[in-house]
Amino acid sequence: MNIATKIKNTINVTNIPNLDFASVFEVTTPLDGMARIILPSGHLAYHLTKYQEVQQVLMDKRFIRSPCNEEGGASFLPTITPRELLLNNDAPHHARLRKVVVKDFSPSGVAVLKDKVVQLTHARLDEMIKLGDAADLFSLVLDHIPSELDCYLMGIPLEDRAFYRPLTQVVQIGAREDIPELLRQFWLVYHYLMDLVTGRRASYPDGLIQRFVADRDDSTPSLTDEELVGVLLGVLIGGDQNILSVMTKVIYALLAAPTLWQSLVEDPALIPCAVEELLRLIPIGNISTFPRIASADVEGSWGKIECGSVVYADVHAANRDPSVFPDPLTIQLNRNNAKHLQFGYGMHNCMGAALARMEISTVLEILIERIPSLQLAIPAEEVPWVHGTILRRPTSLPVRWAPFR
Ligand code: HEM
Repeated sequence: MNIATKIKNTINVTNIPNLDFASVFEVTTPLDGMARIILPSGHLAYHLTKYQEVQQVLMDKRFIRSPCNEEGGASFLPTITPRELLLNNDAPHHARLRKVVVKDFSPSGVAVLKDKVVQLTHARLDEMIKLGDAADLFSLVLDHIPSELDCYLMGIPLEDRAFYRPLTQVVQIGAREDIPELLRQFWLVYHYLMDLVTGRRASYPDGLIQRFVADRDDSTPSLTDEELVGVLLGVLIGGDQNILSVMTKVIYALLAAPTLWQSLVEDPALIPCAVEELLRLIPIGNISTFPRIASADVEGSWGKIECGSVVYADVHAANRDPSVFPDPLTIQLNRNNAKHLQFGYGMHNCMGAALARMEISTVLEILIERIPSLQLAIPAEEVPWVHGTILRRPTSLPVRWAPFR
């Protein structure tokens, strides 16, 4: 049976070539009935996979992040990162930093950016369609939209992308094997952003960078340059590479399983629900949440987790918990019964969730409306992928469409 027939018959996420994640940890012996894994950093961690338990750990402020970001700490990453990143902070300090981004990244905050996404998408599609009836959707369209929107949002001149984008790509999708190079590129991005924050490099006055700098004294104590860079790094990298990766995989999945694409062509009102279902099943990369350390003995339905233990709350697995999502591996575009955890949960829940949802849905709506005949131009198993330390995604999406008259 060829892959197209297999997908048509089952529409099971594991049948779409390359879409599913690969484990980055080693399963080891359970302790007191609790599953355990070995993280890439060599640490033993409890592995929680049930929806309710994952939610409970992510909600519980006794599971903390900061000790993981110390030399020799429990981690999926090959190195530590600046301690000012939101993800490296615990209560109560975390709330002081997070407050800075709440309004701009709320659903109503990102709604004002929708017209810009519409405009960017149409402009890129106009260019692509001019080429005839076949092209690379990734390099001509998708690769530009999140990054151009991110520059617009942050107030970064578009020309800067030639400098910083190759670096952020290495940071997010570079191979684990070359850690010194990965670190070198990361610190170049860090210093680039520091120059924007301190005004050594130019940015536009109405973008987030200058607004956050101007408002730094609204926080108590005032935000330092390092804290502003820590918060803005999430936007610079996540607002571009994270959205690009997931958007590309969502569109790839729909094209690799043409019956799914056709369902949306026939009923575009399904798009918001379909995006949620695909988000549920398509991980951003191989890592879901970052590990936590129990800062006290914590009892739960799992039993007792002792103070000092490392815990991995696996949202990939929770999103496939059959007690919450019946027949979990089947893609049901109209599934609408429970909230997936792909953006995490609790105080560290993804600050870019509303932005990602808005961008992915908008681009998809326009693609479905303008090019309903869109299809992959090569077999799905031949679409090339990059499998990075943090993210993984197709590197091109060759497509074709019925010529326009
Ligand atoms: C579809 C795309 C995305 C997915 C699947 C995703 C996933 C996640 C997850 C699972 C977490 C929680 C990690 C944990 O608890 O250990 C998280 C946190 C975070 N995400 Fe995203 N993300 C996406 C897009 C974005 C975007 C667009 C941005 C920025 C504009 C962003 C910035 C962040 C930041 C800064 C945090 C840490 C928040 C905190 O600690 O308060 N992400 N993301």
